[in-house]
Amino acid sequence: MIKDQLQADPAHKQEQDSEFSTMVDAGLSRRRFMQGGATAMGLFLAANPVAEAVAATTNPKSKLLGFTKIPTSTADTFEVPEGYTAQPLISWGDPILKDAPAFDDNGKQPSSAQEGQFGDNTDGMSFFPLSEDRALLAVNNEYTNYKLLFDHQGKAMTADDVKKAQAAHGVSVFEIKRTAEGWEYSQDSKYNRRITANTEMMITGPAAGHNLMKTSADASGKKVLGTFNNCANGETPWGTYLTCEENFNGYFARPDLKDGAVADKHQKRYGIKDDSKYKWYKFDDRFDVTKEPNEPNRHGWVVEIDPMDPASTPLKRTALGRFKHENAAVTIADNGHVVVYLGDDERGEHIYKFVSKNKYNPSDKAANRNLLEDGTLFVARFDAAEGEVKGTGQWLELTYGKNGLTKENGFNSQAEVMIFAREAATVVGATTMDRPEWVAVHPKTKTVCCTLTNNKNRGVKNNQPVGGPNPRAKNNYGQIIRWKENNADNTALNFNWDLFLVAGNPTVHKDFYAGSANITDENMFNSPDGLGFDNAGRLWIMTDGKYSNEGDFAGMGNNQILVADPDTGEVRRFATGPIACELTGLAFSPDQRTVFIGVQHPGEKDKPSHFPAGGHSKPRSTIMVVQRKDGGIIGA
Ligand code: FEO
Ligand code: CA
Ligand code: CA
Repeated sequence: MIKDQLQADPAHKQEQDSEFSTMVDAGLSRRRFMQGGATAMGLFLAANPVAEAVAATTNPKSKLLGFTKIPTSTADTFEVPEGYTAQPLISWGDPILKDAPAFDDNGKQPSSAQEGQFGDNTDGMSFFPLSEDRALLAVNNEYTNYKLLFDHQGKAMTADDVKKAQAAHGVSVFEIKRTAEGWEYSQDSKYNRRITANTEMMITGPAAGHNLMKTSADASGKKVLGTFNNCANGETPWGTYLTCEENFNGYFARPDLKDGAVADKHQKRYGIKDDSKYKWYKFDDRFDVTKEPNEPNRHGWVVEIDPMDPASTPLKRTALGRFKHENAAVTIADNGHVVVYLGDDERGEHIYKFVSKNKYNPSDKAANRNLLEDGTLFVARFDAAEGEVKGTGQWLELTYGKNGLTKENGFNSQAEVMIFAREAATVVGATTMDRPEWVAVHPKTKTVCCTLTNNKNRGVKNNQPVGGPNPRAKNNYGQIIRWKENNADNTALNFNWDLFLVAGNPTVHKDFYAGSANITDENMFNSPDGLGFDNAGRLWIMTDGKYSNEGDFAGMGNNQILVADPDTGEVRRFATGPIACELTGLAFSPDQRTVFIGVQHPGEKDKPSHFPAGGHSKPRSTIMVVQRKDGGIIGA
């Protein structure tokens, strides 16, 4: 995908213009989707949106989508279209390092076992080719479930249990090879590596060495142990993996808040609480904020990893800002600068982009290795006329001394602007969004999409007004926003945006909670989260939503994958996951004939899943390998 992005082609700019206007018409119109209570509902009924929607999809015009749509599912299985196969590749606990023991689901294995095994809760991942039939997968292990990890279900934690939990987090890198039976992983590869919450890393960029980054273990403010709550990912054209630290705050506790102490404004904005369900702070002082007040500042970053060198030190890139990072969508702008789009996944937080100071040089790998060290971070403001779900937008610069980021507003340096990027975003006037999840850049047109997964606080909290790109109060379905930078220049400061789709349930609702015209009773879903374009420009949408199949979510079944045609707006269901999972993590082989898909947390909240082994086995997060029986291109 990245290789394609680098082949600048002026013809694509034209395509992009037509794509954008078509999509606005196909996806949503003002008539179909006006905000504002009863008036909007009246317009909606008058427009007979269900009929409109069905008409739009009963005669699919898409040339991009070649597979047969599948129905929703409530089964404990992973379903793919007719003519496709899906096989498990690796599950939580499978041994990766040479001497690691096999998984045992008795919950009694010590930390040393988990340190050599695939981590828990597979999330974002990337595919790095070694040869035609060999590759590395770098995979995030977002969090762990104590009910499955321990025989005592987390009720009798010890110091070694905390180490085991820390080892279930982070990143797993392992070799895979293609055999006659399909892809399998190799336990004996020299590349295999576990990166955990205790792996030594370097802090680079504007916050490195700042006083707010120093702890009793690290007077330099440049050396940190570990990464955790690694949500989604990115990969760079120079062959490195980006892992994004999301809900890092949940691992820290400030127990004195129970005794009347008051959290400071930074702790409040980033969500430091009086307790942590993981209990690391009871056994590991750096997670106790009363003892190490700066340790939380060292987490919430994007980390760059060289998967080809298992001895390399992961680098935390502070120039990309500190927040609850979802993914890092990398593209090279036509002028050669690296652009990274970033979402901050919390209700009412923001969308960012980083533009590198230096340019990408395809023939200088060593220089590229530092491109994420220095650059400018921006945050998005979306503007719209009253009642419109499209408009213009601006990238607001987060640079110390500009746009009010001054001493008067509490910022004393660029380091502080990056460490407290959320607060800087508020000062400059960024738009509060409905939980930005993954961002994806179209490989040819460079149009950008971002999932806004849901937001029960929209229209409830003062700083989260209904309107513009967040048009529904108490939004429990989500939407996908799309923007095109001016002149298709990803470093531009201005853009045009619209909504590609608005998820909803047309069988339950007749108002704007039914969703946009491209949502029907046959493709409906809630809470779009994972997002990615394949080389042909198909948009892959993965959900992490409510799977009750009741009430507002009736008829939606388990979490699922949809594929959309950006030109026609058509959306078609491609896969469904097992009970109580989310589907997340999407990596294509370069030939586009294999896609790796993550099944995360099957059976969460004690739901009755035994995926993937069946019987009475413990449910285990698992990466699935999906191929076509005829060996063809996935999705075509
Ligand atoms: Fe880890 Fe926002 O999902
Ligand atoms: Ca996610
Ligand atoms: Ca999510």
